[in-house]
Amino acid sequence: MAAENLEKIVSLCKRRGFIFPSSEIYGGLQGMFDYGPLGVELKNNLKRLWWKHNVYERDDMEGIETALLTNRYVLRYSGHEKGFADPLIDNRTTKKRYRFDHLLRDQTPEVRQELAAAFDVPEGADDYEALALALLDEPVRAEAALKAAKVIDPEDGKPGDWTEPRAFNLMFKTQVGPVADSESFAYLRPETAQGMFVNFKNVLTSTNRKLPFGIAQIGKSFRNEITPRNFIFRVRELEQMEIEYFVMPGDDEAIHEQWIQDHLNWWVEKVGLKRENLDLFEHTKLSHYSKRTVDILYKFPTLGFDELEGIANRTDWDLGSHSKEQDTLGLSPNTREKAMKNEHSTEKLTYFDQPNNRHIVPYVVEPAAGVDRGVLAALCEAYDEETLENGEVRVVLRLKPALAPIKVAVLPLAKNKPEIVAKSKEIKKLIQSQGDVRSVYDDTAGIGKLYRRQDEAGTPLCVTVDYDTLGQSRDGGTDLIDTVTVRHRDTMQQERVAISDLLAYIQEHIR
Ligand code: GAP
Repeated sequence: MAAENLEKIVSLCKRRGFIFPSSEIYGGLQGMFDYGPLGVELKNNLKRLWWKHNVYERDDMEGIETALLTNRYVLRYSGHEKGFADPLIDNRTTKKRYRFDHLLRDQTPEVRQELAAAFDVPEGADDYEALALALLDEPVRAEAALKAAKVIDPEDGKPGDWTEPRAFNLMFKTQVGPVADSESFAYLRPETAQGMFVNFKNVLTSTNRKLPFGIAQIGKSFRNEITPRNFIFRVRELEQMEIEYFVMPGDDEAIHEQWIQDHLNWWVEKVGLKRENLDLFEHTKLSHYSKRTVDILYKFPTLGFDELEGIANRTDWDLGSHSKEQDTLGLSPNTREKAMKNEHSTEKLTYFDQPNNRHIVPYVVEPAAGVDRGVLAALCEAYDEETLENGEVRVVLRLKPALAPIKVAVLPLAKNKPEIVAKSKEIKKLIQSQGDVRSVYDDTAGIGKLYRRQDEAGTPLCVTVDYDTLGQSRDGGTDLIDTVTVRHRDTMQQERVAISDLLAYIQEHIR
């Protein structure tokens, strides 16, 4: 049985050491989580799979790692200073704070209709985002209208004493250097993307790339989300896996489509998410920079289908916005019209199109996925409660072996028998000599309990060393000397394998 709600996953993560609330012994810090011993392995494995697929296995990609603290002008000209904001509102009575559009979404259609009529938003009863924008434009009038329409606070089910709605910028600011003045701050980046745009020329000239080519980055981003929630689904310190893929204008639409299909397949084939638990969502309301955006959604327990990755055709918006002398670049009409005039950049982020002897601003296709959401999806997909023949329920994480935090656990049948312990540790060392394979030795419980523990950790193989391994079978036989029992997580079936064949056997079964 799959996990019917997120609580099951949260509980397993705490119990087994995948993910903990951050700063827990001091009461936690909302929207922050720490990855424990199993979590860090799972997360690293997911990132490694992504990097392998998107960088190593292609001939048109470069990797990069850019700073988390970002010059404010990068985020001014990207549009984040002005536009990376959520609408928010407070109820003075309950002291609760809400995302304003979500508060409107949770009202009855009649309440929204009343507000839509007052603010002349014909589609407002159905389109809560449009309604929120209209009210944000006139905050004083909105405050009175919300009270008149008796907008309910979900906290207490009563009409709220609402403040004016206002835009709340989601970027974290911090001071750089010892002097605190109005100019000495930088932002913690809200996405990894901007680091790739502003390094476009550096990568292009240092690698001699030709279009189309891409830059990939995995790293932390920070967003002061108004309502972080649903475990690691919406957090304030998140990790992203992003690609900026630069193309000739005109090739963008077909290449965009290719990335959508490629990444949809990746989530299925490499991460192991079932196709029926994934969906594509075509945005109808586009961000100012986007020509087309398609989200890959995953069906999370409790939440239903929600965003795992967004894949946007960003046109020449980004390179155009970060360039000097924009009037000379032949930018697309949308970028020309809406991008801020750049008075601080020292570069034109252009590409020399040799065959046509001209400089152009490449278009960008951006597949942008959340690492934390990827980890959560993998955990949700893998979680299974299986009722055994004896009526016992075992929790098993059926992770793809490539994602499993521990590939092989070596378990001695008797921990009070020094030769069995020594042989087990020797085998653990042998397996570990295979480099990247995380293997553990565990003798802290009886064999049944140890198996269950590894099932919950998602360990595909357990190797057991017993008297037979030492050539000390109860019946006096020595046939099984230098063999071990290998037990498979998914089927619980066991096989006897010669130690001399063990490494090859493991490689075959964890691929
Ligand atoms: N550069 C484009 C960009 O950042 P986004 O849709 O805002 O696009 C990309 O973010 C991905 O990052 C999302 O699809 C989601 O998986 C993840 N993400 C965004 N905000 C998040 C948050 N607060 N917590 C966890 N993951 C988040």
